[in-house]
Amino acid sequence: MIALLEKLVHTFGPSGQEQAVAAFVQTEIAPYVDDIRQDALGNLIALKRGQAGGKKVMLAAHMDEIGVLVSHVDEKGFCRVRPLGGLGTLVLLSSRVRFANGTIGVFGVEREERKRPGSSEEVPPWEKWYLDVGATSKEDAPVQVGDAAAFYPFFHQQGSRLFAQSMDDRSGCAVLLEVAKRLKKPANDVYFVFTVQEEVGTKGAMTATYGVQPDVGIAVDVTIGSDTPKAMQLGLALGQGAAIKVMDRGMIAHYGVRQALVETAETAGIPYQLEVLPWGTTDARSIQLSREGVPAGAVSIPSRYVHSKAEVVDENDMIAAADLLLTFVRQPVTLG
Ligand code: ZN
Ligand code: CO
Repeated sequence: MIALLEKLVHTFGPSGQEQAVAAFVQTEIAPYVDDIRQDALGNLIALKRGQAGGKKVMLAAHMDEIGVLVSHVDEKGFCRVRPLGGLGTLVLLSSRVRFANGTIGVFGVEREERKRPGSSEEVPPWEKWYLDVGATSKEDAPVQVGDAAAFYPFFHQQGSRLFAQSMDDRSGCAVLLEVAKRLKKPANDVYFVFTVQEEVGTKGAMTATYGVQPDVGIAVDVTIGSDTPKAMQLGLALGQGAAIKVMDRGMIAHYGVRQALVETAETAGIPYQLEVLPWGTTDARSIQLSREGVPAGAVSIPSRYVHSKAEVVDENDMIAAADLLLTFVRQPVTLG
């Protein structure tokens, strides 16, 4: 799973340009599933058929990562950009981003906006930042308006902790691939859905849900570990197991789905924690609100520094998430 994760985080895929990730996932998952298709929005949908009378269970992880989009190139070749997804400017100074054509850009900020070191003054807004792509004029700039970039990829393992720029949500994609590889003769039809455009409003999951028409949907995504200095106390810690979502800012998980996941973890002895998150949401929100409504929940991987150039997760939580989902989908699903 870790070797695959490393390849996934090195693959370019800001929201709206997930094609390279989809191609990689398709190659990896093909030997383990019965059918693969891509819908009009770009979601990759792989099906592992189950027994007669089983339910349709949809697992969703998003392929897109946080990025930026060029909105203007000035006469000297400096680019102005807009965020693709929920990206704050705190992490920008000297950050490197990479474009689809391999171009590297480095963020600078207008001189008057630079503050004294250690100053608590506000972080400059997007309008004050520019991207230096090594150009000297608009004509020789290697990128143009409309081009997207994502943080320069890196991957590092230190003990059980894993560092990369796009753990959100390539760690979820790696978990889905792991489940697909280990799943034999499931009771249910299991749909592995790798979604597009989650970071810009959980959009891919909505069209995928209409296409799949699942009985149950589970998003696999990162959540926020609260075990860092002076963090808001949420009881979510890295290394303490898969997080079963109770609620986030965008949804309340279906009670039956949440309880079925808890019972699965308890019975199988898989480490888990309960997630109550005051921020964010996942593809589970779109799954839940599609068609006439779909029972939906989420299995989350606690993470630090989400939506930055260096996100951290724990390998053991990914293993727990894969174990939990594998156990859940291969047995008959009954929702209380
Ligand atoms: Zn995510
Ligand atoms: Co995200």
